[in-house]
Amino acid sequence: MIYGAIVAGGTGSRMGADIPKQFLPLCGKPVIIRTAERFLDCPEIDILYIGVHVGWTEQLSEMCRKFIPDTRKIRVIAGGSDRNATVLRIIEAIRGEHGISDDDIIVTHDGVRPFVTVREIEQSISALDSFDGVTVCAPVKDTILCSEDGRGIDSVPDRSKLFRTLTPQTFWLSVLSDAFERLPHETVSRLTDTAGLLRELGKPVGLVQGGEYNIKLTTPIDMKLGELILAQEDI
Ligand code: CTP
Repeated sequence: MIYGAIVAGGTGSRMGADIPKQFLPLCGKPVIIRTAERFLDCPEIDILYIGVHVGWTEQLSEMCRKFIPDTRKIRVIAGGSDRNATVLRIIEAIRGEHGISDDDIIVTHDGVRPFVTVREIEQSISALDSFDGVTVCAPVKDTILCSEDGRGIDSVPDRSKLFRTLTPQTFWLSVLSDAFERLPHETVSRLTDTAGLLRELGKPVGLVQGGEYNIKLTTPIDMKLGELILAQEDI
């Protein structure tokens, strides 16, 4: 089985809106619905789990019924206290509903990246042939500097070797589940992405280059960018 796992349990504090950013309307449709639609467009995805803040499960289920004609593949569950805790809740739900087999795959994705393409999802799944996990990424455009104190520059890494981590991040489900069991809770909650769990255990994680449109809606200007992206005909 191939499971989609959309994490949407955050509060969106940097967006500063009245409601979590994943529920904000973007050109008439909630962001999270746009993200879910991309996964439902992907024929490889058998079941799509969405983890949301515990107080939002009912509203999200209602939104799905309103905007998505066929919701049979969708499971809405309560997320956890941080991003990886939400991924873990989804894994527990999969284990409870279906059990976990060695050839199961999980495609984790931020609920606030509604411009993910079916191609990115499919390429991340295909690349698992050679890796335990795969992350979609993009080359860095700016020169990046490191500063311990935020006042002086300590180093400037070679830009040609730097990439931004995007999602999807796709894994053999049994490997990821095992990583959650083996790593201490503090390590897991410190990590801001899920591929970090495999890196901590020295397991190989591959890269797939994603598109420029696959932005994470984080601050109000990203909603404006999102409207512009939706205005493009080829997206
Ligand atoms: N996320 C989650 N569960 C949490 C926290 C975050 O599923 N307890 C999800 C968010 O909903 C989002 C993704 O992780 O889809 C990426 O996180 P981020 O953009 O940092 O979202 P927020 O935590 O909501 O934003 P902020 O840091 O501005 O509060």
